Amino acid sequence: MYDLIKHYNSNKKEINKTIEKILSKGVLEMGDEVYKFEDNFKKYCGAKYCLTVSSGSMGLLLALRALDIKVNDQVITVANSDIPTSHAITLVGADIKWIDVNEKTFNLNENLLEKNISKKTKVILPVHLFGNPANIEKIRLSSQKYNLKIVEDACLATGAEFENKKIGSFADITVFSTNPGKILDGIGPGGIVTTNNKVLFETLKKLRDYGRSSRPSKWPVKSELVGYNAKMSTINAAVLDLRLKYLEEYIAKRNQNAKLYQNILDSKKIKFQFVLPNCKSSWRNFSIRLKNRNKIYSQLYDKKIRIALGYLPINYKDAYYRKFNNKIRLRVTEKISSEIINLPCHQYMTEKEIVKISKKILALI
Ligand SMILES: Cc1ncc(COP(=O)(O)O)c(C=O)c1O
Repeated sequence: MYDLIKHYNSNKKEINKTIEKILSKGVLEMGDEVYKFEDNFKKYCGAKYCLTVSSGSMGLLLALRALDIKVNDQVITVANSDIPTSHAITLVGADIKWIDVNEKTFNLNENLLEKNISKKTKVILPVHLFGNPANIEKIRLSSQKYNLKIVEDACLATGAEFENKKIGSFADITVFSTNPGKILDGIGPGGIVTTNNKVLFETLKKLRDYGRSSRPSKWPVKSELVGYNAKMSTINAAVLDLRLKYLEEYIAKRNQNAKLYQNILDSKKIKFQFVLPNCKSSWRNFSIRLKNRNKIYSQLYDKKIRIALGYLPINYKDAYYRKFNNKIRLRVTEKISSEIINLPCHQYMTEKEIVKISKKILALI
């Protein structure tokens, strides 16, 4: 789905120089480059505060910890996400309430939200699936009405826009992943957390660094709460900062690729993921829905076209959750999950490659 070698080669010299500089300086943890990147990223997405973390998964966990979510609390989310979305909720001991998604956008169906809110509900955790913004404004209205917090899973949606504004400042806390292969990616696992709330920011910083608020110049370490070692390496932050300069270009190219797919694959037999008006997806991949998905997927696979993720995970059907949730049924989530093929849409795809993939699909449907 991605080409990490082309990605590296596109600015190899800059990357190598940056890495060499940091290794020669020897500040590999919380170096100046980490703070510089955090500063640049918060400006990029218009948030007041930003901190880097060791992964998107860890960012979600820290977000729920910072909001003091725990046993007997409930978090509403979707089931069609990567498993870390649900794991973060389970890891803090809270209950998960999976609700169904909108068939067109594949995102949390905001019209089902309020009837699923109970006394236990504390947080709404929407996912901007494949980079496509969920209806965060409507979700925010419901959250205000019931005094709930919002944590956005924007792990696949760096640079995406809702009503012409970057994702990253709509929720109480927004979490991005910078794992290799993501929209803005580093050279190892990583994540970013943004918020407009200073208190949350201070708590998040402590949680990232063994629970302490400052780095000790001498022992003993003073931990103010129980935290983690969830820091991003200086080298990773520096490479992310370098790539941040090109992020708008990456997103523009991804949008151009998505348009090309839409033009070529225009057929009654294929459905696309719908982007809300005035929103911009960052197109982690281009998803199509087909009735006979499994057959087409295996035919493409047999033709050695390794283009497709043949599935969309359903968290409650995951090996762990299945044991407790075998009665849950979310009609739309299950339907679209059985129909989706994800096509590569990254910035290194050529027009020729997109045409080739699209023609193969058209010939099979
Ligand atoms: C929707 C979603 N949430 C969370 C994550 C977790 O991010 P990470 O891999 O950086 O831990 C992912 C990873 O792909 C994801 O796709």
